[in-house]
Amino acid sequence: MRGASRGPCPPDEERRQGVRDAGCGGHRPGAVSRRRRRPPLLPRRLHRVRDPRRGQRPPHLPSPHGGRRPDAYPAHKDRQRRGVRPRGGARRGRREDAMNTVDTMNTDNTPGTVDIVLAGARGHGHWHLENIRRLQDKGIVRLAGICELTPLTGDEIPEGLGTPEQSADFGALLDSTGARIAVICTPIPTHTDLALQAARRGVHILLEKPPAPSYAEFRRMADGVAATGVACQIGFQSLGSHAVPAIRELVEEGAIGEVTGIGGAGAWARAEAYYRRAPWAGKRRMNGVDVIDGVLTNPLAHAVATALALNGTTRAEHVTRIETELQRANDIESDDTSCVRLTTANGIPVVVAATLCAEDPDEPYVVVHGSHGRITYWYKQDRVLLQQAGHGPEEYEYGRTDLLENLVDHVTDGDELLVVPEVTGAFMKVVEAIRLAPDPAPLPATAWRLLPDEERRVVPGIDGLVAAAADNLALYSELGADWARPHVANEVST
Ligand SMILES: NC(=O)c1ccc[n+]([C@@H]2O[C@H](COP(=O)([O-])OP(=O)(O)OC[C@H]3O[C@@H](n4cnc5c(N)ncnc54)[C@H](O)[C@@H]3O)[C@@H](O)[C@H]2O)c1
Repeated sequence: MRGASRGPCPPDEERRQGVRDAGCGGHRPGAVSRRRRRPPLLPRRLHRVRDPRRGQRPPHLPSPHGGRRPDAYPAHKDRQRRGVRPRGGARRGRREDAMNTVDTMNTDNTPGTVDIVLAGARGHGHWHLENIRRLQDKGIVRLAGICELTPLTGDEIPEGLGTPEQSADFGALLDSTGARIAVICTPIPTHTDLALQAARRGVHILLEKPPAPSYAEFRRMADGVAATGVACQIGFQSLGSHAVPAIRELVEEGAIGEVTGIGGAGAWARAEAYYRRAPWAGKRRMNGVDVIDGVLTNPLAHAVATALALNGTTRAEHVTRIETELQRANDIESDDTSCVRLTTANGIPVVVAATLCAEDPDEPYVVVHGSHGRITYWYKQDRVLLQQAGHGPEEYEYGRTDLLENLVDHVTDGDELLVVPEVTGAFMKVVEAIRLAPDPAPLPATAWRLLPDEERRVVPGIDGLVAAAADNLALYSELGADWARPHVANEVST
């Protein structure tokens, strides 16, 4: 595989949709106090240590670890260089297929590059266009086609991507371009059918999260794709972060003692216009099909998936019980201020709290609580804060493997695929629990207010409540939120 790399900063999506959050780069992430740029938990003497994959620690820094260097933990070794072989599947894909005509059909294809079709190029798809251009500049891929309901104008296609073929007919476009990989970034209810269309043609897939709006649709997609033997990557980009295996290994080494629970916190903001941008936005169902576009299943789905990954409970059978509390301040069908508690097979509780109505939006994070410390991971920034009893806090910054690049490397070189559908099974159980839960309760008018300048609704006090839920592994109702409706538990047996 190539060295660690990351695509352009994903928050394009939030900016485009009139969203306020802390952005992707720059500031030091807030640990608990969500209003502060430099939370009190981070002393001035804190040293930031870079992931070895991103270069050496600056030589002028003294060892900040009291004799315990971060690379003394296996977590800081380069897992990506261990030469792990793929789990199988991809090599039976189109490349070795007798019907494979990819390299001959694209006469202008540079040898060695992989042709890609992108489905859904407006919205978040624009981020994929930029990412494809980045990989095209590296000579790895070529954008062969764009599938959109109406063709993109020249202005909408980033410079350098040429004039890819365009069609609203996904299957026909895959056939005519002979693309080897399809990136699917369309509304949630379209995911399964489009993924299966690609798979049946032997086209490998990067499918945006959430993979499907129900567990049954997920199974139809995952089983159907597996039967064709093509590779499928699910777009949980935080799972491409090198911080995830590093944290897991820190935990396994006993860096924070016995793990007592995992919390996730996401306090974001969405303007009311966000829900008007597309017919499916903020919907639970549309025209009789599931959508389930809620805060925990879509914008902050990464917090759920990342918490499950840090707990090592990613598969459907790893989740034994799910409690949900779904509320909404906005005039939508879905939830925008919710929390969930999962009972997992290893006995470690996972609580994720999220809102799109933050007063002061900030970077989402996942925190691993241990008997002797805690590890906080700001998953959009690849930043990790290790706090151990008896030691000063240490902050680390990691690299990230881009999921499309990983898929290309998997298809061409057999690299291990990072986010196969099965490791999103536990997340899909959460989607299913939210789908089956009673429709989200509207918050009383006294519990939210409109910020007229930003045309968005805020829930006073929610920022602290979200952080408290992740800290205490408690649901909103258990934290005394007077607007929280009585605790509703949904038991999901697997
Ligand atoms: N990984 C992330 O961080 C991230 C961020 C944002 C969105 N997403 C996911 O990306 C997907 C798209 O989200 P969005 O917010 O951009 O949605 P959107 O509705 O704003 O944009 C979707 C685009 O797909 C097009 N489209 C719809 N049906 C199509 C079809 N059958 N064929 C081709 N194009 C079609 C639409 O015209 C539109 O341009 C969703 O699955 C969402 O959950 C992921």
